[in-house]
Amino acid sequence: MSDDLFRRAHAVRKHAYAPYSAYKVGAAIRGAAGGIHVGANVENAAYPQGQCAEAAAIGAMIAAGETRIAEVAVIGTGDALCTPCGGCRQRLREFAAEEVKIHLCGAKGIRKTVTLGDLLPLSFGPEHLGGKAGAKLPADAAEVIRARAPKLKPRAVLILGSGLGPVADAIEGAVSIPYRDLPGFPQPSISGHAGRLVLGRLGGVAVAAMQGRVHLYEGSSADAMAGPLRLFRRLGAKTLIVTNAAGGLREGWAPGSLMAITDQINLTGRNPLTGPNDEAVGPRFPDMTEAYDRKLLRAWKAASKRARIAVHEGVYLAVSGPSYETPAEIRAFRQLGADAIGMSTVLEVIAARHAGYRCAGLSIITNLAAGLAEAPLDHKEVLAAGRSGAARLVRLLTAFLEETGG
Ligand code: HPA
Repeated sequence: MSDDLFRRAHAVRKHAYAPYSAYKVGAAIRGAAGGIHVGANVENAAYPQGQCAEAAAIGAMIAAGETRIAEVAVIGTGDALCTPCGGCRQRLREFAAEEVKIHLCGAKGIRKTVTLGDLLPLSFGPEHLGGKAGAKLPADAAEVIRARAPKLKPRAVLILGSGLGPVADAIEGAVSIPYRDLPGFPQPSISGHAGRLVLGRLGGVAVAAMQGRVHLYEGSSADAMAGPLRLFRRLGAKTLIVTNAAGGLREGWAPGSLMAITDQINLTGRNPLTGPNDEAVGPRFPDMTEAYDRKLLRAWKAASKRARIAVHEGVYLAVSGPSYETPAEIRAFRQLGADAIGMSTVLEVIAARHAGYRCAGLSIITNLAAGLAEAPLDHKEVLAAGRSGAARLVRLLTAFLEETGG
């Protein structure tokens, strides 16, 4: 999970300017919105003018528009672990709660994880001064969610794909929280992805809808959505419903039609579970035989009858993007057994299965895949087709939730 932070700290250490001590330090901070900000130490002939790596990383975070720290990694030189100096502990405390994890790294990875509170007990933070800057920093997203929607215990998590944000508008009693207020939630960067969590009820079921996801092609790490999914699992959610916009590989499937996902092919070349495994979350080698729950697949059929909306079934294949596929690739993917193609979903379902969710998936077929139609592919048209099918998707999803009860 935190391996990406280690790698970034390790990489930036090379750039440290330490001609006097030769002690190079790299620091990487994960901001609450998911961005990673790095810094290296900068020495100065006038010694007090030097700057620690953590301070440099904080500067980069502020310059990027973030003010909340979710996690930190620090790496020094040599065998001894490098912990933030006293001054930097206080610098970090300005933007991080005492519960925030500090990973102390060696050459091969994280060697020890402590909290900021371990390093700086009984600390003085901005909350002690009151006012806006002094608002208590949340330790994690669960605290924010509990504070803003204290009565809601989400049973199902929905991930809403490109142009499918309007599904969130159908949620009753909605409490909406921007991802930027949720430590550890990733910040989507492309149009059509709002980046907010909507908590409420759909089809009578308590849901947590993630309106907007991040993708590999944005430069996100493969496990960027794993943190939020694990958090909802800890809060009691058992079902994950993923939605996406996808290209259709079946000529007969009209743009705007819906497909229940029966299985997936991960051709992104990535996996969210690489690196150390947290046995408390799930096994090292999770089984993917039933990536999409059979009972839930039957529920799509029942929902299709109930809502009178036709639903295809098929296999979803994911690539990393961002370029759309070539016609030759689409022909090859057809041979592999794919019915729909997209750039999302599969990593989320792997992380979710690992965490013990049962998963269901629904694609809105926004276009015929490359080479199957005359016109070239255009993201704006994909978004528009997603939006135009969203109303039907809401009705189907509502019927599905009524059918399954979450
Ligand atoms: N290819 C990949 N991703 C997509 C497509 C496609 O044709 N349509 C919507 N997302």
